[in-house]
Amino acid sequence: MTMKVLVVGGGGREHAIARALSLSGEVILLSVMARRNPGIASLSSAVLIEKEVNIRPVLEFANSHGADYAVIGPEAPLEAGIVDRLEEKGIPCMGPPLKAALLETDKAFCREMMQRHGIAGCPHYRTFYNPDDAIRFIRNFEGDLAIKPIGLTGGKGVRIMGEHLDREGAVSYVRSLGGKVVLEERLIGEEFTFQAFVDGKHIVPMPLVQDHKRAFEGDQGPNTGGMGAYSMPDHSLPFVTASDRTKAFEIMKEVVKVMEEGGTPYRGVLYGQFMNTARGPMVIEFNARFGDPEAMNVLSLLESDLSRIMTRIVSGSLSGNDVKFAEKATVCKYLVPEGYPDAPRTGEPVTLGDTPDTLLYYANVEERGGTLYTQGSRTLAFVGIGDTLEAAEQSAENAARSVKGRVRYRSDIGTAALLKKRISHMKELR
Ligand code: AMP
Ligand code: GLY
Repeated sequence: MTMKVLVVGGGGREHAIARALSLSGEVILLSVMARRNPGIASLSSAVLIEKEVNIRPVLEFANSHGADYAVIGPEAPLEAGIVDRLEEKGIPCMGPPLKAALLETDKAFCREMMQRHGIAGCPHYRTFYNPDDAIRFIRNFEGDLAIKPIGLTGGKGVRIMGEHLDREGAVSYVRSLGGKVVLEERLIGEEFTFQAFVDGKHIVPMPLVQDHKRAFEGDQGPNTGGMGAYSMPDHSLPFVTASDRTKAFEIMKEVVKVMEEGGTPYRGVLYGQFMNTARGPMVIEFNARFGDPEAMNVLSLLESDLSRIMTRIVSGSLSGNDVKFAEKATVCKYLVPEGYPDAPRTGEPVTLGDTPDTLLYYANVEERGGTLYTQGSRTLAFVGIGDTLEAAEQSAENAARSVKGRVRYRSDIGTAALLKKRISHMKELR
């Protein structure tokens, strides 16, 4: 039986979601996005161009087109309550309702929940709502802190002492935020992303992925939404031991259990951002959705039908048998406008080469008269898939290199040299 599925969001992540759903053969896609993503649009039977947080027009569109389900890509519509509103209208969602999305949208809620229930992996932290107390704490704290604005910041609001700013810089930053911050100990280690499908009770893991937040090669430059990511054929990462992975998964299971017991069951994709430290995996944050770029890595490997996973999540009957990923490596490289993220060159034409072996996901790119043009955010991404990381990297690299225009990408993502650095960093710490 065919079903109509509304995909909310217009980035590379949502293109990957739309593609995975469209492979089902039973899905008629509807989509809503602030700007027309040519990849998603070409897969959709109807498109609404509208900000994803403007819930009323989205509801009208979903209703008038007879949407049976919705999949929510980004965090902003979750925070705007889109799931609660769609479900009131009888459209079940892959994505958590407001009270469960708090895991991502309210960093203080997340830390307090972990601490109250004694969930492992919670760094020492304090929450502040006024600048004087926060500043006093910073001046008296021995060692470096991570400074996190309490609300959503698109992954760009966190500043790390000793990395982005010194103690006085931290004081000014906290003042500029009006003192509404979570301050927590700076964790040292290697980051990894652990995504899982969750139906309120059951949790099914996806392959681990490592994202690259910094704009430039060698992890230099400002933080971005993510420049690219890789995953390995064994679905783990070489600097994450089996015991680290188990501990991280236990933490995620614990969170799902606590949310269920608290009467706010979590449904959708749970994204755990971990720092693997000398003491094992610590939680940097949870997100209430797929990662972008990480969705492109895992969904490119998904052999099961995403629409079936979605219906299982909605009915609370998800099992490990519903979810199978190919045992291959992936490397995702994002192309971004020159100057991104601080001063991106927008409106620049981009020409693609011949890239038959890779998957192409469109992101913040405009198509006009058959030509692609950059906009302010990440432009498009290539995912290479291979039996080895090297093969996947070569494929993504060749595709990225063949693009002409005022765009750039990180050529080091997924390379043996970078991986070696990660592994030796972890060895040094342990
Ligand atoms: P977030 O927006 O929470 O994902 O944070 C953005 C980035 O800041 C993370 O990917 C980490 O690289 C870094 N970060 C966040 N919290 C910490 C912490 N407690 N210690 C060290 N780095 C952190
Ligand atoms: N890649 C980081 C995120 O989606 O939050």
